[in-house]
Amino acid sequence: MTQQIKMINFKTHLSPDPTYYFGNRITHELGKLIKQYDFDKVFLVTNDILLNLYGKELTNIFDQNAIPHIVVTIPDGEHHKNFSNLENLCEKLVQNQISKGSIIIGFGGGCLTNIVGLAAGLIFRGIRYIEMPTTLMGITDSTLSNKQAICGKTGKNQFGMYYAPIFLFGDTKYLLSESISGRKFCITEAIKNGFISDGNLLEYFDTKLDEDIAAYSEADLNELALKIIQSKLKILKRDPSEKRYGMTLEYGHTFGHAIEFFTDGQIPHGLSVAKGMCIAAELSHYLGYISQALVDKHYYFFQNKLGLDISIPEHMSVDDMMKSFLADNKKTASGVKYVLLKELGECLNPDGDYQVFVEPEIVRKVLTEYKNKHAYSSKIA
Ligand SMILES: NC(=O)c1ccc[n+]([C@@H]2O[C@H](COP(=O)([O-])OP(=O)(O)OC[C@H]3O[C@@H](n4cnc5c(N)ncnc54)[C@H](O)[C@@H]3O)[C@@H](O)[C@H]2O)c1
Repeated sequence: MTQQIKMINFKTHLSPDPTYYFGNRITHELGKLIKQYDFDKVFLVTNDILLNLYGKELTNIFDQNAIPHIVVTIPDGEHHKNFSNLENLCEKLVQNQISKGSIIIGFGGGCLTNIVGLAAGLIFRGIRYIEMPTTLMGITDSTLSNKQAICGKTGKNQFGMYYAPIFLFGDTKYLLSESISGRKFCITEAIKNGFISDGNLLEYFDTKLDEDIAAYSEADLNELALKIIQSKLKILKRDPSEKRYGMTLEYGHTFGHAIEFFTDGQIPHGLSVAKGMCIAAELSHYLGYISQALVDKHYYFFQNKLGLDISIPEHMSVDDMMKSFLADNKKTASGVKYVLLKELGECLNPDGDYQVFVEPEIVRKVLTEYKNKHAYSSKIA
């Protein structure tokens, strides 16, 4: 039988910094944690996939702890990360008599918790929120940000707010049912943390990825998740606001978000960001900052170790991509800025905000060369 791995808790270094309860097979502790608060009702917001998998277990815990609760589901998928889904959710919660004394739980991947967190921040100007991520990406990355968002008509995460949960709750047992490609796509963001801040992390992954990712045990997943969380917390500790050093976490994201957005999430976040990092590395090299060997290290991890397709989809033109950067949150009055590498474990920082303005014609040239060099195959991972 699988052993429970003791629940630990830590501070996130965010501001505000919700306590993160983390461990394996710890969900039985949830009732006790919720009951620390005064509330009238708990609203569990999830999707049908997760409701089928874990709904019974969660509602049993609520019943055992005499926690009044209502379950609400929302449609699954990145293409539903929009105003209409957000509005439907808010209206549904209000129709179900949510009050200022209620607590909302977002139970799902990063896409779902982004939407639910935003709804929690909006209803009556803020209802207490508990974030319960169920994917490796959610447990290790999106949770550690207080960032809630939906996509607009021209770009990713255009509308949102910083809204902190009252606590975060990550049970790594949920990771067993996540798709293997989902696991891989999160590992791309973890590898990013290696490139931007900690070269030693890449050595860990070089070994860890020799094992069969599909065969990771719950203990492996717990260890992996904790390692990734610690790598992100190290960065957040230096800049909890993510306005300066924390901006390095956006490495590869300007290009990646464009790919994710234009494919309506068909190319998921982590895979899009992996492609984005390869492009950002090529741009860093073109500008003379990093060696070809460091660019190749990106291909080594994403293609050789994770088996990902790092090409740009055929139907996405370089023009479309260039236009989409204008909707990116790193656009300034003087143009689009990019997070670029200076060396392994360090990003360029010419102006103190870890972002670099690059002439559009240079970006266009690098993108065009990249697209031509890497032929598109339709495989996702
Ligand atoms: N706020 C942030 O700072 C931040 C950081 C990273 C990513 N994100 C966002 O997170 C999203 C990507 O999140 P993701 O990688 O978790 O993907 P996701 O939320 O799209 O989930 C992927 C799929 O897995 C399903 N799923 C979730 N948990 C499962 C489980 N335990 N078992 C079986 N199926 C499960 C989901 O229902 C969905 O179909 C993007 O929208 C991205 O923008 C936000």
